[in-house]
Amino acid sequence: MLLEKLKTYSQSDIYPFHMPGHKRRMTLPSDAYGLDITEVEGFDNLHRAEGILAGEQQRFADFAGAKDSFFLVNGSTCGILAAISAAVPRGGRILIARNSHKSAYHALMLRQLSACYVYPKISIFDIQDMILAEDIERIISAHNDIEAVYITSPTYDGVVSDIKKTAQIVHAHGKVLIVDEAHGAHFGYHPFFPESAVKQGADVVIQSIHKTLPAFTQSAVLHRCSDRIDEERIRQFLDIYESSSPSYLLMAGLSRIVSFLETEGKERFDRLAEHLKYFYEKSRQLRFLHVLQDEDFDGERDVSKILISTRSCNICGRELYERLLKDFHLQLEMYSGEYVTALCSLMDEEEGFERLLTALFSIDGTLREDKEQNDFVRCIYSRKKQILSIYDAMERQTVTIDAESAQGHVSGGYVYLYPPGIPIIVPGEEIDAAFVQDMERLKVRGLIPEGMKGPGMALDVLSRGL
Ligand SMILES: Cc1ncc(COP(=O)(O)O)c(C=O)c1O
Repeated sequence: MLLEKLKTYSQSDIYPFHMPGHKRRMTLPSDAYGLDITEVEGFDNLHRAEGILAGEQQRFADFAGAKDSFFLVNGSTCGILAAISAAVPRGGRILIARNSHKSAYHALMLRQLSACYVYPKISIFDIQDMILAEDIERIISAHNDIEAVYITSPTYDGVVSDIKKTAQIVHAHGKVLIVDEAHGAHFGYHPFFPESAVKQGADVVIQSIHKTLPAFTQSAVLHRCSDRIDEERIRQFLDIYESSSPSYLLMAGLSRIVSFLETEGKERFDRLAEHLKYFYEKSRQLRFLHVLQDEDFDGERDVSKILISTRSCNICGRELYERLLKDFHLQLEMYSGEYVTALCSLMDEEEGFERLLTALFSIDGTLREDKEQNDFVRCIYSRKKQILSIYDAMERQTVTIDAESAQGHVSGGYVYLYPPGIPIIVPGEEIDAAFVQDMERLKVRGLIPEGMKGPGMALDVLSRGL
């Protein structure tokens, strides 16, 4: 039974270097069922909030520095759908970072939007780096029908873009800036971590509170930070995309975050900063594994996302992830071809950092240098040619063919690794030689992306002649 399995797991010694940010260390005041209600008298209605929920949301907004905040119980996903839908009219154009989460592409499909893409720089470790404000300026100047700009900062890898500069550019062109800050709900509350986009000029900011702060999975917040985007339009779309039965447990967990940060935030942030500084310094002594440091990136970074690269030694990301779990009972957030990610939060304890260091040094001692790994590391998120809009492509007939014979076809579906949920290809893009090679390389590394079917790695492409 699932419940029994969860209980057994929670009592095991497996240490969580993954979401949710509460790290299974928060407690409820009483039995959860006793707190689980619907919109009974005195408890307001999230979709027409004017009582206690309106008050709690405004308290969050005041704390975060937003004009108003909307509690989300369907994750950042429903906030992203609502923000894009509210900012761009149906059939309009949006400038969107190509390293966006799939939920943003789904908004484009639902609203039949056309996209101009801005691509991130690629770091020396072949990780998607920051979005350059200059690139946004160039694209926005060339397309005066762009209605809004959408970027992700920080990324799943902790890469932060220059939101202040981007906002100035976007506003100078009279457009709206939406920032997916799903991975940065802890920003803006302590000098060791970057400032939040809320306070840097973004017009809408969406945060998955559950990812990095101690809140239940699915709890998120949409912050409206300026009048450039209409409050009523956001409400209308949240009404469509969000459950009509929002959980009071999740909403209570969200309002609890403000009290938590007010009372315990400073001390916990101080402690986390000390643990991280110690961890990063010690990890410099690893011989073959490499913990990515600030100097490996161009811009600012959220160091609570620890990235451990295997690029110059004789194991790949998956093998490192498996050894950490099997031999040391450390559950990491994810593995990729050449690195693994450990997510840290305010709820981490010294024990976790010590255990991770011990495990890394122990594994490192068994490794040897292997430069051939470098052959693999070219970033799989290469530039693709758009043939049709996502909506137009998804309305067409598709056939399923093996990846190796797909070059030159137009993709009929998404292909992405989950996590992070960033499409390698989206519907309507041309399948190029790099894509075919990348699928083969991922298969060799034991990474089968979503959207690829069966042992032959087949995918949906548009039927010819339609
Ligand atoms: C960058 C980014 N944005 C948005 C989301 C969606 O967030 P949620 O799971 O809270 O719906 C994710 C999920 O992993 C993400 O990585």
